[in-house]
Amino acid sequence: MARNPLIAGNWKMHKSERQAEEYIQALLPRVAALEGVGVAICAPYTDLKALADSARGSRVEVYAQNMHQEDQGAYTGEVSAPMLSEAGVQGVVLGHSERRAQFGESDHALALKVPAALRAGLTPLLCVGESEQERDAGDTERRLRQQIAEDLGGVAAEQLSELVIAYEPVWAIGTGRVASPEQAQEAIAFIRALLAARDERAAQQVRILYGGSVDPDNAAGLLELPDIDGALVGGASLQVDSFARIVAAARR
Ligand code: 13P
Repeated sequence: MARNPLIAGNWKMHKSERQAEEYIQALLPRVAALEGVGVAICAPYTDLKALADSARGSRVEVYAQNMHQEDQGAYTGEVSAPMLSEAGVQGVVLGHSERRAQFGESDHALALKVPAALRAGLTPLLCVGESEQERDAGDTERRLRQQIAEDLGGVAAEQLSELVIAYEPVWAIGTGRVASPEQAQEAIAFIRALLAARDERAAQQVRILYGGSVDPDNAAGLLELPDIDGALVGGASLQVDSFARIVAAARR
């Protein structure tokens, strides 16, 4: 079953609204002709409305980088899924390793956030991946199995196909140590097999991306592999030129 590739740029805490606007105006013509490739920009909250307005009607979708699991309430500093949806946002990154490590994002919270995003019509982009220590200890599969089981525990099997999953080994994020195509392919095939145990059809439809030190030089070697449905790009998404070259590399 053909899955359209998705290239998502995770800006993390970069770009003011003005910088975001300049970027999107430069990106739109660069990706307009790349049919069959989905593009998403995962931006800080303050950029989302402007980006969504500028990208409307184009192939570029706008994602947030986090959200709260409740629709509303006494949660100072938080933003909910319906708020993102009303701002024109199409998806949301959940469980990024930086949020897990630095902000206490737990598998328990993710088990509530993923269904909350789906209820609001947002595409959850769930990040999973092992640390260097876990890989060295031979614990990669155990870690992936645990994250997939717990984070997706609240999602009905037939809804799994609406998700995007990003395999982001923690040791490859921001380090320049990109996973080899074989390492990425092996982990992603394992994740797909875990999903297939819940729903074979959904597992064939769900897009699974690779993330961690993707750049214009290594993208093609990763994206040509059959199980890798795209990339979640950090540093190399901050410049329009390098991001657009990665999008172009995803064309099949
Ligand atoms: P880098 O591409 O900078 O390694 O970041 C990857 C990442 O964390 C994307 O979410």
